[in-house]
Amino acid sequence: MDAPNKEFALAGSLGELKAKGRLVVHGAHRPILVIYDRGRIFAFDNRCPHMGFPLERGSVEDGILTCHWHHARFDLESGCTFDLWADDVPICPVEMRNGEVWVKTTFGHADPAAHWHQRLADGLAHDLGLVIAKSVHGQLAADVPRADIVRQVALFGAQNRDGWGVGLTILTALANLLPVVPEEEAYLALFHGARHVAADCDGQAPRRERAPLGSRPEPAAIKRWLRRWTSVRHREAAERTLLTAIAAGASQGVLADALLAAETERAFADTGHSLDFINKAFECLDLIGWQHAPALLPTVVGQMVAARGAEESTAWRQPVDLVALCDEATSQLPELFAAGSGAHSWSDHAALASELLGDDPAGIVDALKSAIRAGAAPADLGRSLAYAAALRVARFGNANEHADWETAHHVFTYANAVHQMLKRIGTAKIDGYVASVRSVLHGAMALYLARYLNVPPARIPGDVDERLDDLPADAQTIRAALLDAFDRQRQVDLAARLVARHFMLGHSSQALIATLAYALLREDAGFHAYQMLEAGVRQFTEWGDTDEGRHILIAVARYLAAHSPTERAALQTADIARRLMRGGELHHEAATS
Ligand code: FES
Repeated sequence: MDAPNKEFALAGSLGELKAKGRLVVHGAHRPILVIYDRGRIFAFDNRCPHMGFPLERGSVEDGILTCHWHHARFDLESGCTFDLWADDVPICPVEMRNGEVWVKTTFGHADPAAHWHQRLADGLAHDLGLVIAKSVHGQLAADVPRADIVRQVALFGAQNRDGWGVGLTILTALANLLPVVPEEEAYLALFHGARHVAADCDGQAPRRERAPLGSRPEPAAIKRWLRRWTSVRHREAAERTLLTAIAAGASQGVLADALLAAETERAFADTGHSLDFINKAFECLDLIGWQHAPALLPTVVGQMVAARGAEESTAWRQPVDLVALCDEATSQLPELFAAGSGAHSWSDHAALASELLGDDPAGIVDALKSAIRAGAAPADLGRSLAYAAALRVARFGNANEHADWETAHHVFTYANAVHQMLKRIGTAKIDGYVASVRSVLHGAMALYLARYLNVPPARIPGDVDERLDDLPADAQTIRAALLDAFDRQRQVDLAARLVARHFMLGHSSQALIATLAYALLREDAGFHAYQMLEAGVRQFTEWGDTDEGRHILIAVARYLAAHSPTERAALQTADIARRLMRGGELHHEAATS
């Protein structure tokens, strides 16, 4: 029988429904469950919002529908769940027409963007992975700009945790990677970012806001005060000082310089994480808008003032006092930059990187000083440092302990953060910015201390005249082999060879990066893996399809291969959410068995 209204389908007669208690309406639409309970009729999406099992197998008691599978419970009238991990089940309007039960077959929300925005807020607040995944998918399907989703999650993270954390760093790293990942992986990237922020905030005390000072001091005073409060670990004073700078309209460069100068009051603080977090907060504001600086930027202050500096560690004091070496060089920086200001443009980044990998710390500092004298700008030094640190990872010897990967990784992501911060500061008023250049000296010493990781060095494939002809030649086949390598443990060298092969045959580096991104996004990756890929991609853009670019992507591939595969539980959650959102029947066989 034709429906009088095409949006409605006939479920059956009222008598049939009363007799059976429930009916399922199949068709081109999603299967719809119709339930008769104590004189009232209710209709739902028959797929449980938790994992899609058929709700028709559930039980009804006292106005509550309980799913047969994992026992999530739903209010019959509204579809709202009593068990937040399961999510609410969509309901359908019902009409009685001449003793027949008709149900509306279209699901949807009057304002999908607003609905999924609220659901994402709920998922973040209660750390519900499936709800987060569906909400991200729902917002993307409703054409919500990716930046809006990042903004919602970032502001949640800033407000619901007392300080910047791992979650916000992962979110920012993945949001930075969005332009290089295919459309399908954008959903995965945003899901991973949001779920890590939610996990980071779960059970945490919310952040307490502080106010800027009533005065508007000069940038030089702000910088001095920030350094002072960091030295004496006075968090409130440092936060109010930073908020004052923001309220005074300080430029990004001024803010970056003030924070980097304060951060480098301690050397390589918190094994580089503190500086990396500061850089990520800046990058997050680039993504979500600088009007949110008062909410976001002060979140990095707590860790910065509390961080433990490397100057407290024996390795930095004995047998060579590396801190004293850095301090002495720092005192010479104004003079060195003044000498280099008249020089021609400097571009010996790779040569300087090679010197930074030396085994004499005084020689390393001398190399940096020579580069400055020859005209290298702070950002040039950062670029060389980042490339040298990438080479540490690319040459990481397989005889090291597995945990040693993190030592190499820390220096690389620190160096990348230094590079990005120095680029943001720029070269204007260079004499005022020399304190920030301490970050390069500290990074160079951290790199020096990690030299044992390259003893003996792993050979970088493609550096000598080798064809790697035992590997496939076709681009897609190479990338498939790379993913296959990531499916197995300890395929570090094979991953490096495949990347080198892809390069030497001139295949698309962007496609290779997209493959590396997919390899990461399908894993239950750790914090460092996200940082590694993002820093690698950012550094690759400095060099492009050159030997140095190849070295950087080999470093990334080797690190990812050393940490793959994982259980991929988050990918499973993302897949379930995707199929639920697309309206598929996830467990049809279970329903009919
Ligand atoms: S509770 Fe329904 S599928 Fe898990």
